[in-house]
Amino acid sequence: MVKFSKSSFKRFVLLVLLVITALLVAACGGNSAGKQAADQKAGDNSKQGNSDKIVLRLAHNQMPDQGYGLGVAKFVDLVKQKTNGKVEVQVFDQGKLGDERDVTEGLNLGTVDMAITSIGVMTNYNPELSAIVMPFIFRDYGHVEKVMESGVLNPALDKLQSKGMKALTIYAQGFRDVAMREKPIKSLADFKGLKIRIPAGEVYTETFKALGANPTPIPWGELYTSLQTKVVDGYENNPQVANQIKLYEVTKYLSLTNHIWEGGIVLIAKNKWDQLPADIQKAIQEAATESAKIQRDLIRKGDDKAIEVMKQNKMEVVTIDRASLITAVKPVYEQLGKKYGIEQLLKQIQEVK
Ligand code: PAF
Repeated sequence: MVKFSKSSFKRFVLLVLLVITALLVAACGGNSAGKQAADQKAGDNSKQGNSDKIVLRLAHNQMPDQGYGLGVAKFVDLVKQKTNGKVEVQVFDQGKLGDERDVTEGLNLGTVDMAITSIGVMTNYNPELSAIVMPFIFRDYGHVEKVMESGVLNPALDKLQSKGMKALTIYAQGFRDVAMREKPIKSLADFKGLKIRIPAGEVYTETFKALGANPTPIPWGELYTSLQTKVVDGYENNPQVANQIKLYEVTKYLSLTNHIWEGGIVLIAKNKWDQLPADIQKAIQEAATESAKIQRDLIRKGDDKAIEVMKQNKMEVVTIDRASLITAVKPVYEQLGKKYGIEQLLKQIQEVK
């Protein structure tokens, strides 16, 4: 074994430190020189760091294999394919990064790059979007699809840019029904005084007030417990969405009201979007549009199966005279149509054939 005197050991340590430092400096210098050269070659792409992989963190609050998850899985694949693997979308589902409001705020804070947020929540950023969730505005799923393709929603969606978000497309949640714990809702009169959980948003509040109920906004993540502990009498949502968190375990009756078609806007932070090269923007936009078409079609076909699952879990399905509900919510059109200046947009949506 080699033996060092105290002073020669000190010199040896110093030498090792110097060599390590020199190697580190060389490595860093080399990297940045290489990067600079690549930057110059890439021209426009220098905005995103060129050869670097682009990672986009996307947050939503549904399951990976249901609801939004069906579209997101397709979106991730399409983005990878269309950008030759240059862009990777990392998904944080089931509300792992917070509820819809948290992740939407996160777009401006930089904690997420992309989010899927209910239109009801997005009306807080642009009230004109309320037109999409007005009660009974859509005749059926076919009408929804035609409106999505018509471009009539584009001006309202584009206005989100002034709030730091770019809307890429809209995924479906589907038509919503009403589910109750103890008493079925069979007619308009049955709504009277019932505490029904709604998502936060004026259209939902005014709609359920007009129906005679007591609308109660509660975050989605707290709904199961709120039903279990009888804080609310029921909730309203699409059966496919409700089954994701097994609400059939805490409710007994489903009334087929189909009162609101709800969707989630696929958003990307505007400052992130603006940094992306044009070819990457094009690929991401195409992936979003294509995945949305597939996702909306799957949701359109999924209600019957979801209602079957509810029945298998001992829920009773009740039909209801929708015409009386449609009449009851008419004042909401007058009130909010005027307040948000969306009379024209409501007409445009209704006129899409
Ligand atoms: O009812 C809601 O709050 C929304 O429909 C939901 C479930 C959060 C969308 O994912």
